[in-house]
Amino acid sequence: MKIVKKVLVGALTALSLISLAACSSSSKDDSVKKIEDKGKLVVAMNPEFAPFEFKTLVNGKDTIVGADVEIAKAIAKELGVKVEFSAMSFNNVLSSVQSGKADIAISGISATKERQKVYDFSETYYESVNVVIVKKSELAKYKKTDSLKGLSVATQKGSIQEDVAKKQLTGAKIISLVQNGEMINELKSGQVNGVVLEKPIAEGYVAKNSDLAIAQIKLKSGASDSYAVAMPKGSTSLKKRVDKVIKKLKKSNKIDAFVKEAYNLSVSSKE
Ligand code: ARG
Repeated sequence: MKIVKKVLVGALTALSLISLAACSSSSKDDSVKKIEDKGKLVVAMNPEFAPFEFKTLVNGKDTIVGADVEIAKAIAKELGVKVEFSAMSFNNVLSSVQSGKADIAISGISATKERQKVYDFSETYYESVNVVIVKKSELAKYKKTDSLKGLSVATQKGSIQEDVAKKQLTGAKIISLVQNGEMINELKSGQVNGVVLEKPIAEGYVAKNSDLAIAQIKLKSGASDSYAVAMPKGSTSLKKRVDKVIKKLKKSNKIDAFVKEAYNLSVSSKE
C-alpha cells in the first residue's frame, strides 16, 4: 500500500510539473521569433498533389511548384525569411509539424475538427470537393454511392478521403495507399475500381489519362474540409501573420489564379 501511495504521489507531482511546463510554454509564444532567428521557414508537403504541389522540371532542374508553393513563398516574404520545402509522404506531413521538423505544413490540408484539436490552422483558402475517378469504359456502371459495393476503392493514406470513402461509398472495400500515383496506376491496371480525390487533383489526372473519367457519384464534404495552413498548437503570433497573407491573397483572387496556372503547367508537363 505504501509503495502504491508513493508511486501515486510521484506520478501526480510529475503530472503537475508537466502541466506547469505546458502552461509556461504556451503563454510565451515564440512561433514567429523562432522562424526569424533561423532565417528560414521550413514547409512540410507531399508534392504529388497537382495543382497544389508537384515536381516538375524548371530550367532542367527538378523543382517543387504549385499553388501551395506560392502561398508558402508569400508567407516567407511576409516574415522576411527564406523558404525551404520539405517533401514527404502525406501521412507524415502533419506529424512533422508536431515534432518541430517543419515550421508549418501546406499540403492541401483539410482543417478538420479532429486535426484542429492538435494543430492551429490559418483561415481556409480552398474548398474541398471530393469525386471518384473510374475507368472511362466503366463510367456508366458507377453512378451512385452504392455502385461500388463489394469493389475496391483507393484513397491516400492519412487523408480525409479514407473517411469520406468509408462513410459514403456503401459496401466498398477501401484500400489506403501512400502515393497518389500508385492509386492511379492501380485503377488503370484494374486492381481497384475507383479512386477518391479532390476535384482539381482528379481533373488533372483525367486530363493526362484518356482512359480515366470522373464518375457521376455525388460525395458530400464537411464544412471543415477546406484547406488551411497547419501550425503547431499555440502559434498565436504566427497564425496572425499567416492569416494576413491568406486574406490578402484571397481578396485579390490570387489563390484561384495560382491554382489555374499550376493546373495548366501540370497537365502540359510530362511529369
Ligand atoms: N485534403 C485532404 C486531406 O487533408 C488531402 C490532402 C492531400 N495532400 C497531398 N499533398 N497529398 O486529408
